[in-house]
Amino acid sequence: MKAIEIRNKYLNYFKNHGHKIIPSSPLIPENDPSVLFTTAGMQPLVPYLLGEKHPEGTRLTDYQKCLRTNDIDEVGDNRHLTYFEMLGNWSLGDYFKEESIAMSYEFLTKELEIPADKISVTCFAGDEDAPRDEITAECWKKAGIPEERIYFYGKDDNWWIAGEEGPCGPDTEMFYDTGKPACSPECQPSCGCGKYVEIWNNVFMEYYRTKDGKYEKLKQHNVDTGLGLERMTMLLQGKETPFDTELFAPIMQKLSELSKNDSIESRRIVAEHLRASMMIIADGGRPSNIDRGYVLRKLIRRMTRHLNKMQIDLNELETLIELDIDILKEMYPELEKNKEIIKQVIVEEKNKFMKTLAHGEKEFEKAISRAKAENKNTIDGQTIFKLYETYGFPPEITSDLAAEQGFKIDNSEFDKLFKEHQEKSRMGSEQKFKGGLAEQNEKTIAYHTATHLLHKALQIVLGEHAKQKGSNITTERLRFDFSHPEKMTKEELKQVEDIVNEQIKRDLPVKCEEMSLEEAKKSGAMGLFENKYGEKVKVYTIGDFSKEICGGPHVTHTGELGHFRIKKEESSSAGVRRIKAVLE
Ligand code: SER
Repeated sequence: MKAIEIRNKYLNYFKNHGHKIIPSSPLIPENDPSVLFTTAGMQPLVPYLLGEKHPEGTRLTDYQKCLRTNDIDEVGDNRHLTYFEMLGNWSLGDYFKEESIAMSYEFLTKELEIPADKISVTCFAGDEDAPRDEITAECWKKAGIPEERIYFYGKDDNWWIAGEEGPCGPDTEMFYDTGKPACSPECQPSCGCGKYVEIWNNVFMEYYRTKDGKYEKLKQHNVDTGLGLERMTMLLQGKETPFDTELFAPIMQKLSELSKNDSIESRRIVAEHLRASMMIIADGGRPSNIDRGYVLRKLIRRMTRHLNKMQIDLNELETLIELDIDILKEMYPELEKNKEIIKQVIVEEKNKFMKTLAHGEKEFEKAISRAKAENKNTIDGQTIFKLYETYGFPPEITSDLAAEQGFKIDNSEFDKLFKEHQEKSRMGSEQKFKGGLAEQNEKTIAYHTATHLLHKALQIVLGEHAKQKGSNITTERLRFDFSHPEKMTKEELKQVEDIVNEQIKRDLPVKCEEMSLEEAKKSGAMGLFENKYGEKVKVYTIGDFSKEICGGPHVTHTGELGHFRIKKEESSSAGVRRIKAVLE
């Protein structure tokens, strides 16, 4: 089934069940400067979820164009997309759990003809804010899902809210069993191994989370559901990635034909960023140096860079745009309507970027002269980073040019600086998404301390080589990248969790001392980005367990952390693993 058929089936199904089809809102939210882009179907409906009357009634359905940029740097792998389409249906104080679940089940099994035994579901396990959602589980049983395929999880998995404040509630998620072998006897939908793929999320929105974290009952109970179209298309077609579906396949093929230096990763980046850029431009976005405009600029530049990398003639860009519009115009007629402006904006931005590159080349020549004068044969990481940050000069080009003149580049130093920069900008965009509410608060501070415990625990279980490669913290979770050559086993993960939880139970004091970098090293403190530290550094000691150079802040006692749980262990890049973990 093609994507457009799935979309039409969806809208028709809900229309036949009393829903009014409403148009997709633009990708760029109207009158809402607090968010960059529309990130979910419910976003334009917030006032109605809070009780305002919707002119079309209490049952609505639509397809919504969405853009999420927090994972922009991960595009290129087999699943991440920035732009995607979310199909949704809403009850604004109308039906609730039973009817919503009955419709979802019928749509999946009858309309999409997914075999019932491929579907598992998850429900909210309950906590101090809201009860265990037995009603939802009962509804599933009634619909036809046997008890053994109904799972209960906590807030991290089965509670939905956009950001920090707003309408929210327990959700129930539907998972598709890809038929891949289970990674272990305990493998379940929450496991990240790839056997189970989330396909639909029904949120039972009956609460409002206030600024200070309290949950109040909403005036009305709502249902908000979201189904990712690209993912569903891929699954129904039995494809491994969204890039293998008709939404991307022709452009992937064309890129392959044009490239003299083919790379699947680069092709995915170009195909994905081109589509996202076109959608933003069609909805009125233009490149600039701030906020939304910067996201668009970044998308176009990254795309250009990868075209360059594959040695594709940049004059082909217009052909590629035309081809992509042909692929997508049936679904998005606005692309065809804005074809000329789309071409103009993308080509102009590409030209600007090429000038930037030319400018960078001059700086590069200066760096070479400096290195020669100093009798060095390596271009240092600071210079590569400056070329990247100030002139938008891609490091792989720096590396190529350096090689031509017999110079090497210090990649490891650049990588460190780049990772820091990436974390900063990622945090920046996540903050923006949450309307600036994601500042350091109790939760991020706790995750920060948990990260130190995790780092040390990994070294104990895996060995000293398990060093930090990157870290990212939100109020919901920590993410930690570290060097390790292979997938961690279940036992290793359990050991790490146990060690961290033991340190939390011991309620160890966290102490901060200032000392010179030399002294810090001598004291055995773990240090990460050594070249970034000044003369004096802060060293955080957690009882007798860990000692690490760090800017803080941290909790005063580990007892404040709660229970530590690893949610996912996956590959981040070659030789680097990634752990996502939560405190509950
Ligand atoms: N708001 C929920 C989501 O984004 C369901 O639509 O998944």
